[in-house]
Amino acid sequence: MTKLRTPSLGLAFLVLNLLSIQAVLAHYRFDTLITPDLPTGSKSVIRQPHSWNPMLDSTSKNMTCNFHSGLAPEIAVIKAGSDISFKLDNEIFHPGPGALYLGAVPEGESAGTWDGSGARWVKIKDWGVREYTPTFWYFELTRTWQVNATIPAAVPSGEYLLRAEHIGLIDPGKPQFYVSCAQVKIVDGGEGKLGPFVEIPGHFLPTDPGLQLNLLQHDLGMGPYRVPGPDPWEG
Ligand SMILES: *[C@@H]1O[C@H](CO)[C@@H](O)[C@H](O)[C@H]1NC(C)=O
Ligand SMILES: *[C@@H]1O[C@H](CO)[C@@H](O)[C@H](O)[C@H]1NC(C)=O
Repeated sequence: MTKLRTPSLGLAFLVLNLLSIQAVLAHYRFDTLITPDLPTGSKSVIRQPHSWNPMLDSTSKNMTCNFHSGLAPEIAVIKAGSDISFKLDNEIFHPGPGALYLGAVPEGESAGTWDGSGARWVKIKDWGVREYTPTFWYFELTRTWQVNATIPAAVPSGEYLLRAEHIGLIDPGKPQFYVSCAQVKIVDGGEGKLGPFVEIPGHFLPTDPGLQLNLLQHDLGMGPYRVPGPDPWEG
């Protein structure tokens, strides 16, 4: 047993460990929507991303709903005020913020046809840093397979795209974007006035400090982390 402690074996174990970490260091995709009517989750209301690899260009049109394999065959019906979840096909392995947006489908289109263009997106929730330490910032969504949110009761009834976004910040200066859009119809809605509306891409600048920080060289003096994009709508 003491043999295991020899430096070369120790190194071999270290390398093995790194390799297995590498295997787990896979990417991820929001591929399932859970709603009160779809308690076990549905994949067929999501425009499924082609790949679980991240997008790297925050200005690309692909940022709207990812490079996906076409419109989803179904639209999920959700009562305003309900709890919903996006499930992933792997855990959110990389540290970084997350956000949920609602895109209001324009007249003449449906959630099953609209491409998400125009300034019609409102952020309804975001997830930032849970804990700051002198050596690292711990993000709320790290290592989770599922993100949970409530559709605000004040959201007006109508058809929307519900967009989940996670931003991986492992490679300083090269944020990774993980995005999926679900097609939804909100019923029993409220009288809220949605806003501010943003366009996606265009909801943040590539130079946003929340995208560019180096987690290993962060400065606590920078102040609290701000999730990129507009403030979440208050209802
Ligand atoms: C969207 O992503 C695909 C796959 O990476 C790429 O081939 C395509 O050029 C991208 N489109 C835009 C507008 O960037
Ligand atoms: C979302 O809810 C599920 C089921 O309750 C839970 O396992 C998961 O940890 C939650 N996600 C987060 C990020 O809290």
